[in-house]
Amino acid sequence: MAEDKISMGIPGLDEMLYGGVNSGNIIGLVGPAGSGKTLMSLQFLYASLKNGKKCLYISSNHNEKELKSKSIVYGWDFEPFLDNKQLVLKYMEPVHTELRGEEFHLTSKYLDELPITVKNMKTDIVIIDPITDFITLCKSEVESRSRLLNLFRLIKDNSSTAMITAESEIDSCSTRSGIVEYAVDGLFILRRVQSSDLNEILHVIQIAKMRWTKHLREIRQYDFTEKGIDVYSKYNVLIGGSGDARKK
Ligand SMILES: Nc1ncnc2c1ncn2[C@@H]1O[C@H](COP(=O)(O)OP(=O)(O)OP(=O)(O)O)[C@@H](O)[C@H]1O
Ligand SMILES: [Mg+2]
Repeated sequence: MAEDKISMGIPGLDEMLYGGVNSGNIIGLVGPAGSGKTLMSLQFLYASLKNGKKCLYISSNHNEKELKSKSIVYGWDFEPFLDNKQLVLKYMEPVHTELRGEEFHLTSKYLDELPITVKNMKTDIVIIDPITDFITLCKSEVESRSRLLNLFRLIKDNSSTAMITAESEIDSCSTRSGIVEYAVDGLFILRRVQSSDLNEILHVIQIAKMRWTKHLREIRQYDFTEKGIDVYSKYNVLIGGSGDARKK
């Protein structure tokens, strides 16, 4: 692999990227609920740790204990990397709920804390799963755009490579605002499609963009296995209707 390419930890995706993502790029992973965004990001994290990278993983959905216990099921043991300080797993709650008297109050420092954490950690790899709350908490499109671009600037100033996941709207390929899609250097879109015999829901992935980089434009099928996500090398379920890529 060329020196400036970083493996995604999933051979099928590395193949689509002719080796991996370009070092220093910010990659978006956009998909609906349950499409595998967290799993893909953890798989990328584990591969990066194995490749000696210093990593920061920020989750607003799962705490450290949960991330560790779920990941071990797939064979990704983060404990040694936490012990040697190669990995920081950070759970950041976007909104705090506080009982004051008889009323619940919502407070949030997330919009400031997230970029400060990224700036101060200075790791080779930054993963944020998902970025959706950060965008939603902004009061206007102008604010979300400028805060996101500022966050990305901090990532680039640290020469980090990043993976940012984002939730797409139900039955859509894009996020509500579309800002993430424009701001990232590279974009993977995850979708569900019905198999040609209408019996099964299949998962497919495509690279929608990858600035300055040659990549495959094919739509590829992927599946969930006991070792994580597997991206198949051929997809023809919709086009040819002649069966599942796994059976090829
Ligand atoms: N071993 C497995 N076998 C089959 N399916 C699995 C396996 N592990 C995970 N899955 C599938 O992965 C899905 C969850 O993946 P993941 O949590 O990464 O999705 P997500 O896109 O992050 O979802 P959300 O938007 O809700 O956070 C499950 O709903 C399940 O369908
Ligand atoms: Mg998730």
